[in-house]
Amino acid sequence: MSRYDVVIVGTGHGGAQAAIALRQQGFEGSIQMIGRDPSPPYERPPLSKEYLAGEKPFERLLIRPVQFWADKQIGLTLGESVTRIDPEARELHLASGEQVGYVRLIWSGGGDARRLSCPGSHLDGLHAVRDRRDVDRLLEDLQAGIRNFVVVGGGYIGLEAASVLRKLGCSVTVVETQDRLLSRVAGEDLSNFFAEEHQRQGVALRLGAQVERLEGESRVEGVTLASGETIACDAVVAGIGIVPSVGPLIAAGAAGANGVDVSDTCHTSLEKVYAIGDCAAHANPYANGAVVRLESVQNAHDMANTVAKAICGDPQPYDAMPWFWSNQYDLRLQTAGLSIGHDATVLRGDPAERSFSVIYLRDGIVIAVDAVNRTKDYAQGGKLVKARAEVSPELLADTDVPLKEMR
Ligand code: NAI
Repeated sequence: MSRYDVVIVGTGHGGAQAAIALRQQGFEGSIQMIGRDPSPPYERPPLSKEYLAGEKPFERLLIRPVQFWADKQIGLTLGESVTRIDPEARELHLASGEQVGYVRLIWSGGGDARRLSCPGSHLDGLHAVRDRRDVDRLLEDLQAGIRNFVVVGGGYIGLEAASVLRKLGCSVTVVETQDRLLSRVAGEDLSNFFAEEHQRQGVALRLGAQVERLEGESRVEGVTLASGETIACDAVVAGIGIVPSVGPLIAAGAAGANGVDVSDTCHTSLEKVYAIGDCAAHANPYANGAVVRLESVQNAHDMANTVAKAICGDPQPYDAMPWFWSNQYDLRLQTAGLSIGHDATVLRGDPAERSFSVIYLRDGIVIAVDAVNRTKDYAQGGKLVKARAEVSPELLADTDVPLKEMR
């Protein structure tokens, strides 16, 4: 059995950046990455955007050229899962039956696409959009001429997929359980704007709708809602969130209810075991101290840097400002900060002009900015968020005054 100074589980953004940051910090010990995905580390945001649209080949998604990992002496074990952790022996048990020892473990397991569990969810033609293989299967359907889609879930994945599918000439109906789109991540103004935009682009929406079952014999032929309506289709894309991938960690005794709990240096309750990215529940300074899991590239990347520093003897609390983005049609939504617990919103600009921002306040302090086709508001608003700036709603709404002049 081999033992490595650092074993990184997960080859997504968090895992890859942890390895890169360790080497950048001068870490000279052995590093071994282990990931379920058979491909070398790649960027995921393009999967539901340019990759699905056929605008970017897989090679351009790679986080680093394949040779980089060997050059930096970072071992890659791909297509392999960790099934059990022995925290006393500091050993990992792999699905292949092999065992791997660690001095320090960085868990960057991310999450699995939540699956539909209704009758018919075993049928062919039901797709997730989480990793390259998911999207390759969807692309195969598109290449085979499949054009009628139901998208289940009106979050980022569902809406980005819907916009690409429309661009490719498909018919699309989006089914969302909540009464508005993007309800997990955005305020009502934004939800309404995106609902109108998708409808304008020809997407049919079913909001406040429950999927009862998928119809079909071997392949999906329709989606029946609790209302009794059946929407005929040839394929379904489900973007209904993720389930944090932390099973072996929790089974080994790590604390966590929603993902795995981590300290401000991303340490779990298990000795020498860190966790980062989508699966790491942490008290975020931008969430008014609330414990959150952030499902974003920024969070994975910055937590990876936090862990690398901690391992290299320079521990610093994680305090990066959260940011997110989404591309749909010609709209670029950029978010800085977290709107959790906001008690007021300010609309800046005119949604009818397709360039506007929504600014979120708590106790008069700017805590988040959602900017649609308004990159300056995103960049300058992010600085207000970082500065915890107190700005009057009237001033924030005044588009004649740049946000950078409001500090
Ligand atoms: P999500 O949690 O953002 O959205 C899921 C949506 O599906 C919610 O609106 C929810 O109400 C709805 N839903 C849940 N169960 C449903 C059901 N049975 N029927 C109908 N609707 C249902 O998750 P999503 O969009 O799947 O994204 C997965 C992950 O990928 C997230 O972590 C997301 O943040 C990340 N992502 C981030 C992007 C970005 O930052 N631009 C882009 C794409 C994905």
